[in-house]
Amino acid sequence: MSHEVVEKNIGIMIIFIIIVISFGGLVEIVPLFFIKQTTEPVQGQQKYSALRLEGRDVYVKNGCYLCHSQMIRPFRAETERYGHYSVAGEFVYDHPFQWGSKRTGPDLARVGGRYSDDWHRVHLINPRDVVPESNMPPFSWLAENELDTALTPTKMRRMNTLVSATCNGCELYTEEEIAKAPDELKGKTEMDALIAYLQGLGTAIKAGR
Ligand code: HEC
Repeated sequence: MSHEVVEKNIGIMIIFIIIVISFGGLVEIVPLFFIKQTTEPVQGQQKYSALRLEGRDVYVKNGCYLCHSQMIRPFRAETERYGHYSVAGEFVYDHPFQWGSKRTGPDLARVGGRYSDDWHRVHLINPRDVVPESNMPPFSWLAENELDTALTPTKMRRMNTLVSATCNGCELYTEEEIAKAPDELKGKTEMDALIAYLQGLGTAIKAGR
């Protein structure tokens, strides 16, 4: 009888559907906040230096994620090409993460150390100078734009808040590191910061290649 009531009344049906789906979602999502594998850094994963933290913002600001993912899936074709598949503990310092979903260009999750700083510099100024068939756009202005460090200490503090709320065993920025960051970054360009960021990507895990 009661089953018939639910089936004939779409309002009640919608409420029940929402309850069932929410429950399913909670069962899948909530445990992720407590499993060590997703909340602890992988061995050797270090927090971003101030320069790399700023470089990460340059990456976001210039929309690199629109053509590049940072997520190697656990498939042979991907691990052969890019290296060890990505694991959750590599992204504990990434707020927001840059996994992306579009691969016009190659995945960058393990690009750190693959090329020299000079290669990146030439490539970013004009990709076709090093990869003739490339259709990546040039980002030459990054070499001229001096890094704006007015907000660097604020960004580092915000990162501390986010990381301490989501990660067990992560390193936070000390007051000393925060205080000396603007001086450290003085005279650096957006290009310097971006390259430093790229060179650190995926370097904690090099095994299994
Ligand atoms: C319109 C799409 C597009 C955008 C936007 C873009 N790229 Fe690319 N990128 C590519 C393509 C295509 C390639 C492959 C050809 C090449 O190496 O230039 C590539 C290659 C690369 C490589 C070499 C990767 C490897 O493993 O060989 C790096 C590093 C890179 N891009 C960084 C960046 C950064 C940093 C930005 C943002 C400043 C960016 N790209 C923006 C399309 C793009």
